[in-house]
Order: sequence, then structure tokens, then C-alpha cells
Amino acid sequence: MILPKLALTTTAVTEVAADAVIVGVIQEGDRVGLAPGAEAVDAAFGGELLAVLGTLGATGKPDEVVKVPTMGRMTARMVVAAGLGKPDPDGTVTAEQVRRAAGAAARDLCGVSRAVTTLSTVDLQAAVEGTVLGAYTFDTYKSENKNGAVSRVDLAAPADGTARQHRATLKAATAIAEAVAAARDLINTPPNDLYPASFAERAAAMGKAAGLEVEILDEKALRKGGYGGILGVGGGSTRPPRLVRMRYRGPKARTKVALVGKGITFDTGGISIKPATHMEEMTSDMSGAAAIVATTVLAARLGYPLEIVATVPMAENMPSGAAYRPGDVLTMYGGKTVEVLNTDAEGRLILADAIVRAAEDGPDYLVETSTLTGAQIVSLGRRTAGIMGSDELRDRVAQLARATGEGGWPMPLPEELRGDLDSKLADLANVTGHRWGSMLAAGIFLKEFVPEDLPWVHIDVAGPAYNNGSPWGYTGKGGTGVPVRTLAALLADIAEHG
Ligand code: BES
Ligand code: MN
Ligand code: ZN
Repeated sequence: MILPKLALTTTAVTEVAADAVIVGVIQEGDRVGLAPGAEAVDAAFGGELLAVLGTLGATGKPDEVVKVPTMGRMTARMVVAAGLGKPDPDGTVTAEQVRRAAGAAARDLCGVSRAVTTLSTVDLQAAVEGTVLGAYTFDTYKSENKNGAVSRVDLAAPADGTARQHRATLKAATAIAEAVAAARDLINTPPNDLYPASFAERAAAMGKAAGLEVEILDEKALRKGGYGGILGVGGGSTRPPRLVRMRYRGPKARTKVALVGKGITFDTGGISIKPATHMEEMTSDMSGAAAIVATTVLAARLGYPLEIVATVPMAENMPSGAAYRPGDVLTMYGGKTVEVLNTDAEGRLILADAIVRAAEDGPDYLVETSTLTGAQIVSLGRRTAGIMGSDELRDRVAQLARATGEGGWPMPLPEELRGDLDSKLADLANVTGHRWGSMLAAGIFLKEFVPEDLPWVHIDVAGPAYNNGSPWGYTGKGGTGVPVRTLAALLADIAEHG
């Protein structure tokens, strides 16, 4: 990963040693307006900056970036005007608008090594997150043309607050953005290099570096423990499955949170094989696991006063002579039996084992995230996570998902679908016999493995975890790192309110 170095500055932005000055522009009716922080730049243009931008066709709409040469009017050789979109009626813009504009500007800074941004005067935390995530690139596998991403961004200090507060905000926002970038790196690593054993080792290395207790269960330990779901799904691969456990004990921790994430390092569908078209995108089927690992490390870095135990199942879903079959019955961790009717509904099988194990620790909350169903994308699109679980926690997480800008919506777990998971042979089947409400049916399957009175949430990020379209805002192509920021917001909220 390549990330820019960030530093606060109180030097006038027209005098900072930088190649580019980033300013925000807003949509005001049909006209373009300047966001706060751009005053000195406008003055250097003799108050004509808006006129120049208007001539160049700038509108201030989201994802618009317009560059203006400064012709010696200030230190930087160009102004980069990033669209914030429409402000609220009271003139304010949201954190997410700032994050996206900062991200779009950072993506457009190729060839600029040093920039200074004024978006930080609007919202420092959002400007940091947007800048770091927009500048993120993954070029580990490029042998040449390593891109010239921006290497340093100075942040104009906000007018309110103290320097000490600004430094604390910068530090926390950088940690959050780096956690998202760490998740992206794991997701973007191709499946020939990121497989259960190598993923487990990387997770362990990240965890140990942050002072976490880490335990890896290999296939032998999984057999001994009776993890039938993980072993069943992982059986078709020459690269055996793993279960990673990471524990963080925060200072004065009174609340215990269990985190679980789906770690299918590649999902071919198994014997119920997927069509070839876009199968390569199933390299991202460990995005839930990546988010959980990154968030647990982040919690330690930020010192949340919580106890957090992450339980992360990792397997590769492959067809082979050793693969599990449609018709097999698996005995899951904890003893429940599941009839496999479709080997492509594998995520719920490894998650069931992990959820039962996680619940044994006696957590106050259980939070699980996964790229679980194509139906999530059908129902909510590529950018809105489907959030299910116990009523209160579900709604709390959905609210936080929207507040962070990651996006999410509460979805029900309709009772009547439970009967459709009945099996003639076993305690339940891994799929219903129909397509209706597949995202919800997957949630209902998971619910069967959650203790009755444990508040829990399931965040289906099949669409949001991976961007197979054009870059937008602070989201490039490939792994997005969703829902790391939602999880971080939830942990912060639980740390504060229980
Ligand atoms: N990993 C997929 C879900 C998925 C699909 C994630 C598209 C990201 C993009 C999951 O394992 C899967 O294959 N689900 C099946 C379930 C079905 C067999 C009930 C699906 O959604 O089609
Ligand atoms: Mn699948
Ligand atoms: Zn899958």
C-alpha cells in the first residue's frame, strides 16, 4: 500500500511549499461557490477564482475535480478545486461530502508529490480519512510504472479548537484510515498468495504487532475441536482451512464484544460451481474477515476500553475429489447438523462454527460481517450493506453505518423463512429451496447459531466490500475496506454508552 504522509500546518496555504492547493467548491443552485478555507486562494486570484472556475465549467458537483494553474500567484503551481455537492439549507456540508471531495482530489493528484488542503478547515477528520483513502493504491504486483501518488499532504488547521486537539484528531483519523487501507490490502492480495494459512499468518503478525493475543487453529486443531463447517467447506482445497482468534483487553474494559468475519479466500462455489464470468471477483470473499482483523488491530491502537475477541474462520471453497458435496450432512461446532444442498452457500457454514465458538466466551455483543449473498446486491445495490440481527443492535449499527458514510440499511429476519430451511435429514439445510429473500434466509440461518438472548448483528457487505466499477469519492477499484469504519464507530459507541 502507498499512503501519503500528513501534517497540520498553520502557514497560509498560499505560502506552503506545495505543488497543489486543494479547495472545496459547492453547488449553489446553478452556480459554483467556494467552501470555507479557500479565502486566501481566492484573494490571490484577486477575488476572481469563482469566475475562473465558472469559465472552466466547474459546477461543484460530487467527484468533480477542476485544476487551475496559479501562474505565480502563490507558492503552489495549481489549485485543485474539488466538488462537495450541495450544502444543507443552513449552508453546512456533511463529513461524508468532505471525505468524498478529499478522496476525489487525492485520486487526481498523480504527478503531484506534495499538496496542501483547505478541506481540513471544514472537517479535519473527514479530510484526513478522505485524503488517505483516496490516495491509497495497491501496486504490489506491478513490476513497473509504480504510480506517482501524492507523498505528502499538509492540512490547513481548522480555525476552532486547539493545536493539541487537532493533533489528536489527525492521529485518530489516520489510524482509522490506515485500518481501512490494511483491510483493502488483504482483500486486494490475489488468492494464490492469500489463502487460509497465509491469511492467518498475516492476521497474526498484524495482531501481535498491536499487542494482541493471537491463536491459530490449523486443520488438525479444527478436527480435534469438531469444527465441521469450516472443515467441510475447506475440504476441497489443497490449502487447508484455519480459525484465527485474536484478543484485545483494553484498559478498564467492562464490555466484551465478539467479532466474527467471513474469510473465504476464494469462492469458486465448490461442486455447485459458479459461472466463469466475474468469478475472479470472489478473491474478495474474505472482506468480512479482513475488516474484522483490521478493526481489532485498530481497537488496540486507539486503546478502546473494551474487551474484544475476534473469531475469524478462513477457508478456500474449491471443487475437487476431496470437496464436500450437495447432500452431505455436516456436524457443526457445538453439535448442530446441517444438510448441504448447495456448496456455494459456504459462508454461513464457516460462520456458524465461528459464531458458536465466539459465543462461548460470553460476550455482551456479537458482531458479524460477511460477503454473504448476491441477494444483498439485488436488494440494496452495491453501496448499501444489509444489516440484520436483534432489533436494537441492528438499528444502532444501521444508523452508525449511515453516519460514517459507509451506508447500510436495517433488514428483517422474517420468521416464515425459517421453515424453508428445514431438512429431511438434519437439523437444518444450508439453503431454502427458492430464491426469495435469500439475504434474509442467510441471516436466519446464522441466527440458529446465536444464543437466544445475545444481542447480535449480521452485516452483509457483498456489494459494498468490493468496487468492481469506476472509482468514486475515496473509493478506488477493488477492496473498499467496508465496514471497518462502521465497526470502529460501533466499538467507540459501545465504549462510551455500553
Ligand atoms: N460469496 C458469495 C456471495 C457474493 C456474491 C458475494 C456476489 C459478493 C458478490 C456467497 O458465498 C454465495 O455464493 N452465495 C450464494 C448463496 C446461494 C447459493 C443461496 C448466492 O448469493 O448466490
Ligand atoms: Mn458461495
Ligand atoms: Zn462466498
